Parts: sequence; C-alpha cells; structure tokens
Amino acid sequence: MNIFVLTGAGVSAESGLGTFRDKAGTGIWARFDPMKLATPEAFARDPVQVHAFYNMRRRNLLQAQPNAAHAALAKLEAGLAERGGRLFLCTQNIDDLHERAGSRQVKHMHGELLKARCANCEAVTPWREDLSVDAQCPRCGQSGGLRPDVVWFGEMPMHMNFIDKALSEADLFVALGTSGSVYPAAGFVAEARAAGVRTCEINLEPSDNARLFDEARYGPASEVVPAWVQDVLA
Ligand code: APR
Repeated sequence: MNIFVLTGAGVSAESGLGTFRDKAGTGIWARFDPMKLATPEAFARDPVQVHAFYNMRRRNLLQAQPNAAHAALAKLEAGLAERGGRLFLCTQNIDDLHERAGSRQVKHMHGELLKARCANCEAVTPWREDLSVDAQCPRCGQSGGLRPDVVWFGEMPMHMNFIDKALSEADLFVALGTSGSVYPAAGFVAEARAAGVRTCEINLEPSDNARLFDEARYGPASEVVPAWVQDVLA
C-alpha cells in the first residue's frame, strides 16, 4: 500500500511550536504580520526584522521535542516498507521534528528552518545559530546574502515534481494537522480525488476542505495518529 501523508503545523502543535491560524485568533499570523515577515519583499525592505522573527522560531525549535504523532509516522514508514508498500511524507512544516522522530524520507515543500541559503552563490548549508545580515556564507564567504531556506509567500514551493508524481501513485491521501487554507498544498485533496485516490483528514477539527474527504478522524494528533497508524498496520 502506498500512502501519501501531508502534514501541517497541527502535527507539531503539541511539541510547543505554534500553529499559524486558529479559531481563537492566537495563531502566529494573528500575532505577527506575514506581509512584513514572510515575503521576499519584506526581507529586501527590512532583513533585520525578518531575521529576528526566524531566529526566534529557530530557538524555539531547538528547544522542542517530537511528539507521539511524529513517532507514529516514523513507525508507519517502516511498517509499510516491511509490507512492500511506501509512505510518502510531505510536510509544510519547516521544523525537523519528523526527522528527529526517525522518519527517513521527508519532503519539506516549504523549506527547512535549520538551513540557510545564500543569495550570492545559492549554496544551502545547515544553520542552527541566529542568522544576521553580517553572517558569512560558508561557501562563498560573502555576507549580507544569507536567508532562512524557507519558502515565503509568493515564492514557489519545493519538490513539486516528486509530490505530484507521488500523489498520482498513492492508494490513500491523508491530510494531517493542516487548515487547508494555503495553496498548492490545499489543492492536493482535489488532485488526489481526481486521480481516484481515497482521502482522509486527520485534524483537531474539520478544516476548510473537510467536505472533500472520504473519511476523517478528529482530535489531538498525539492521540489520533498513533491509533490510526495501528489500524493501518494491523
Ligand atoms: N492536533 C491536530 N491538529 C491540530 C492540533 C493538534 N494538536 N492543533 C491544531 N491543529 C490543527 C488546526 O485545527 C488547524 O486546522 O492544525 C491546523 C493548523 O493550521 P495552520 O495553522 O493554518 O497551519 P498549516 O495548515 O500548516 O499552514 C499552511 O501556511 O503560513 C503558511 O507556510 C505556512 O506551512 C504553512 C502554511
């Protein structure tokens, strides 16, 4: 069995990493303006402010630990492989909690916070410290060109060729911990349905796309995902 799992901020919520949008209005984008912090224009206008925002998130990430939902997905990857199947794990998250939980194959379509990209030489290098306009690129040595290796609003997501192929080859598409409000990820369920792939939503509450799913499981990811994985591997 080939399963495509798309994860969002909800899978890391119980690890203490905030989600972007929630009904209580306490999400990251309710507290910070994405147009001032998460666009290439904002970075060109005020790189110091943008670095401060991502430095804060990187420090939080380094303090966080994977939760039972991350661990269950790593178990699913191994369990499907043992049975001749495959898990394609695509995440919108820029954290490394899937990998720290033991997942081997993870496609970060919105990039990774623990990497820096150089605008001068395009090098992508691991980066765990605060970034600044003075930081020097480990490859070309120039300063002023480093940015977090993440996808900002208005930029192209990464790995789309792999993602589209895996979507069309899946037997089951699962959206996990995502509000279904940001494209192209929010369009994956419709793409999967068009390819005749069964669909399932796992989330704290019904997402914006809930009506498009064949089945759904609602509740905290750390409880619902281990139970779902157990059912799949039973
Ligand atoms: N368990 C399961 N789901 C949860 C939990 C939890 N403990 N806590 C919150 N959720 C759900 C919320 O109900 C919501 O539907 O997770 C979803 C999080 O939605 P968003 O905050 O919108 O996050 P996401 O869908 O990943 O955002 C997509 O938007 O801001 C950009 O680039 C950013 O990758 C991000 C993209």
